[in-house]
Amino acid sequence: MLAIIGGSGLTQLANLDIKRREIVRTPFGEPSGPLTFGTLGGKPVVFLARHGYGHTIPPHKVNYRANIWALKHGARAERVISVASVGAIRNDMPPGTLIVPHQIIDYTWGRISTFYDGQDAHVVHSDFTEPYDGELRSSLIDIFHAAGENVVNGAVYAATQGPRLETAAEINRLERDGADIVGMTGMPEAGLAREADLAYAAVCLSVNWAAGRGDSARGIHFEDIEAVQRIWLARVRRVLEHYAANLAP
Ligand code: HPA
Repeated sequence: MLAIIGGSGLTQLANLDIKRREIVRTPFGEPSGPLTFGTLGGKPVVFLARHGYGHTIPPHKVNYRANIWALKHGARAERVISVASVGAIRNDMPPGTLIVPHQIIDYTWGRISTFYDGQDAHVVHSDFTEPYDGELRSSLIDIFHAAGENVVNGAVYAATQGPRLETAAEINRLERDGADIVGMTGMPEAGLAREADLAYAAVCLSVNWAAGRGDSARGIHFEDIEAVQRIWLARVRRVLEHYAANLAP
């Protein structure tokens, strides 16, 4: 089963033919909302809105463990596509660019970031050299191309704590560190998916220039972000439908 986690602006998949909703109880508390089961491109898909269906949960309060656990054990998902909005640091990723990142730098703090917190008396170090699933990334990129959409193959995603946006100096530092895009929800989600042995990849939509860059030189304007999201997420939905339709039955 394919799972899709929708970020800001993607609290539902308009093209998902919904069959049922299910509230999954987890050992880690409540997921962001009920899981929505349905078919997309004729294939079974489970959808979860990361910030809740009414977009009420800020990035630092998302129960990432419950979400991943619910998808793995409640829905029996094998792969997860995360859709997330990001700010563009690199100047060839202007608002409206779709990106499938290949690396992560984690700047978040105070989030519970593991299923293995010592309670069950064993310590686990999962390999995270390549944080995203290589096969899932390449098949996503192929589908984007087949659907006639441009997509950037590879970027370093900086996961910041939020919910405030960054300062211009913080963005300069992220760039010096090697980051290309910045978002608030990529971690610990990707790390937990790895611990749960789920194939996980992200489709990121650049919705604004990062603080201090381009037309965000003096500030970031949310009205502009929402307009970009509305237009581009419709295209992401279409590509996801193609992706699902191409999965083996
Ligand atoms: N910074 C962090 N997260 C974001 C941004 C940003 O500029 N845009 C969308 N998500």
